[in-house]
Amino acid sequence: MSVEKISLIVPTFNERDNIEPLVQRVHAAMAGLDYELLIVDDNSRDGTIDIANRLSAQYPLRVLVRTEERGLATAVIHGMRNASGTVIGVMDADLQHPPEILPSLVGAMEKGADIVVASRYIPGGGVPNWGLLRRIISKGAGTISHVFLPQSRRTHDPMSGFFMFRRDKVDPDKLKPIGYKILLEILLIGDFTSPAEVPFIFEERSAGASKLKWSTQIDYLKHILSLMSRTGELAMLIKFLLVGLSGVVVNQGLLYILTEFAGLKYFFSAIISIEASIITNFVLNECFTFVGQRTKGFTGFLKRLGKFNVTCAAGALIQYGILLLFTEVFNVYYLISNIIGIVVAFSWNYFFSRNWTWR
Ligand code: GDD
Ligand code: MN
Repeated sequence: MSVEKISLIVPTFNERDNIEPLVQRVHAAMAGLDYELLIVDDNSRDGTIDIANRLSAQYPLRVLVRTEERGLATAVIHGMRNASGTVIGVMDADLQHPPEILPSLVGAMEKGADIVVASRYIPGGGVPNWGLLRRIISKGAGTISHVFLPQSRRTHDPMSGFFMFRRDKVDPDKLKPIGYKILLEILLIGDFTSPAEVPFIFEERSAGASKLKWSTQIDYLKHILSLMSRTGELAMLIKFLLVGLSGVVVNQGLLYILTEFAGLKYFFSAIISIEASIITNFVLNECFTFVGQRTKGFTGFLKRLGKFNVTCAAGALIQYGILLLFTEVFNVYYLISNIIGIVVAFSWNYFFSRNWTWR
């Protein structure tokens, strides 16, 4: 792929002191490339707009001012709607995203990537001078998305706000972000098949203040839930839970029937009823929970059956281990220990079913 026109979207809100060095550094980094810079400003009152307008006489820069709507993520979508390039880049105005790595983002696109993320969490990247709490929040947020939205594992840094992608891979009308995390939204809703990453070091903010607040974390969790619901992840989780409950009925019912009516010893009928419930759970998960996730063919079916048995066996051991550990070592009431065991084993079973058996 040769280089096509690139539209770089930069959302701004009160970035007076950053805008000129940003534009200069971007222009130097993009030398020789066909590009436009779209500043999407939410009616800043500090003079950002005037400075940007003045720079637009000298640089390939357009200034879009919004007055109706506010927010970083929707500003990016607004930029997408107005972009004339086939490749879209997104970066912050405050120079925390060094423009000097733009050529490596472009390079990855040229090599055939349809989305490339500037990542802090691959070798060569980083976040110098961050306090422990901030590191934990950033890493933790990324991990939450990796666990609950498996598709976000296309990048090590789904929280990044610095990325580039092919415009035809995502329909802006389908984007419904909550809060700040526009990359997560684009990554999950877009139709990407060749993701790439390049490392970068998140700089300290050079001027002005961050607009992030605590409510941002709540919005983030809402956004994860919304994406789980829109991508079908939530439906799979709920179906898996329902199937699991049906397995309890099978297990308990068969244990009763085999013990009371077939005259088997309970510890022998238990083995049969456990395996029976694993099999009914498997069949229901195949035909109901993960119907969109499975591959065709009989060997695939047998492999999944094997994997599901392994997962459930390990889950049962974990449940049993937790029951013993909490009851004997931590002196927890055994029925409470058992509930904890059930919750942990359920999470285990779900995680491996979703990410291994029905990947
Ligand atoms: N148009 C518009 N409207 N722009 C905004 C708004 C808004 O309401 N709020 C923030 N921005 C712009 C800022 O001017 C800046 O260019 C960029 O969005 C990032 O805002 P910051 O306030 O600097 O956010 P941050 O540094 O805390 O967060 C950044 O890092 C995160 C990763 O830790 C952002 O890049 C996030 O996208 C990123 O996820
Ligand atoms: Mn910032």
